Amino acid sequence: MLPSKVRIAFIAGTRPNFMKVAPLLRELPNWPQFTGDLIHTGQHSSPEMSDSFFEDLEIPEPDVNLGVSGGTHSQQTAEVMLRLEPVLEQRQPDLVLVVGDVNSSLAATLVAAKMHIPVAHVEAGLRSFDRRMPEEINRIVTDAVSDYLFTSEPSGQENLLAEGCPASRIFFVGNVMIDTLLRYREKASRSQVLERIGVRPRHYAAVTLHRPSNVDEPAQLRALLGVLEKLSERLPVVFPVHPRTRNRLPAVLPGAPALILTDPMRYLDFIRLIGGARLVLTDSGGVQEETTILGVPCLTLRENTERPVTIEQGTNRLAGTDPEQILDAAFSALEGGRPQVRPPELWDGMASRRIFHVLANIFSGSDRARPRGQLTHSDRSGITEPSE
Ligand code: UD1
Repeated sequence: MLPSKVRIAFIAGTRPNFMKVAPLLRELPNWPQFTGDLIHTGQHSSPEMSDSFFEDLEIPEPDVNLGVSGGTHSQQTAEVMLRLEPVLEQRQPDLVLVVGDVNSSLAATLVAAKMHIPVAHVEAGLRSFDRRMPEEINRIVTDAVSDYLFTSEPSGQENLLAEGCPASRIFFVGNVMIDTLLRYREKASRSQVLERIGVRPRHYAAVTLHRPSNVDEPAQLRALLGVLEKLSERLPVVFPVHPRTRNRLPAVLPGAPALILTDPMRYLDFIRLIGGARLVLTDSGGVQEETTILGVPCLTLRENTERPVTIEQGTNRLAGTDPEQILDAAFSALEGGRPQVRPPELWDGMASRRIFHVLANIFSGSDRARPRGQLTHSDRSGITEPSE
């Protein structure tokens, strides 16, 4: 009799999650000992934030959609928990795999851990050390109760070890979001988005803003928009507006702005937009990583980053949230040349394969779901080919 397959429940809820599960789902069929279900929590559900990403990234239809959208953080988290529990009860996965740091990742981790289902966290160990960020709370709790921690950069391992996490649970595998970027970069270069907007490559700045700390407080949002308007006197500024920000714009931007405001973009268009920019200004985590690989100067409009490798080796600079400082940083970035690209270690398009290699070791043999935390040294070894 053939041994039964190890069943993985992949959890995705928000726009940045889709780029992270896509390469894992693509890798899955190469490993015959595994099977999987994709569970969409619904946290992001509008076509522009969800469906278009499934299309561009060729992600299969979710097996289950929990349909949780909107609400406060607690409502969102609780609702995902309530709706996920019976789904896991019914599907009986051997492993729940969560990516990133959003409310859906936290909720799924808590449900699985309480049901004694092992949890793997992809993109573990990142820390901004700023607990006012909702994502920081999500990261800390998710990592604390996950069994297998897959890190994307060296700081991840350092932070986890400093928090007392056993080294045997930590696996440095690289960055799954970069797996997606490298796969679709060429295709994105054929996007016509710049022509549609009417800007020329290297002659515009691209902006994203959606962190609560930047957009929820009208005075702060107004100050940042003031900076962008000043910058637009030097070059066109293209700003795809996230729904959270869009909901708040009318209160602070009554007149016609000098900025080029657009709806949120689909993946391929967005990669073309930031890849072709002279300068990117952002408060997103993923964009700091993507600009590092694309070699585009990036100013992060925050006081901290949980992704220090993008500053140490990448094109990212912390510009803070003070308007004067941001403008100074933007003008000096415009003076500078195009930075050298030094891809961080293991940001090579193979992170998903490494994750499956580790999982294959963990779940090898007849004891499908090994007891929590019992990893052998070989689980930490390098990449090998998937089994035939
Ligand atoms: C969430 C994540 C954040 C991530 C971001 C990427 C948390 C705590 N935050 O923030 O880490 O960087 O996603 O986008 O999980 N909305 C729509 N359409 C949608 C989804 C949301 O209009 O498809 C609206 C919601 O109604 C809400 C707002 O956008 O008003 C914010 O959505 P929410 O899921 O609460 O958090 P984000 O700010 O998107």
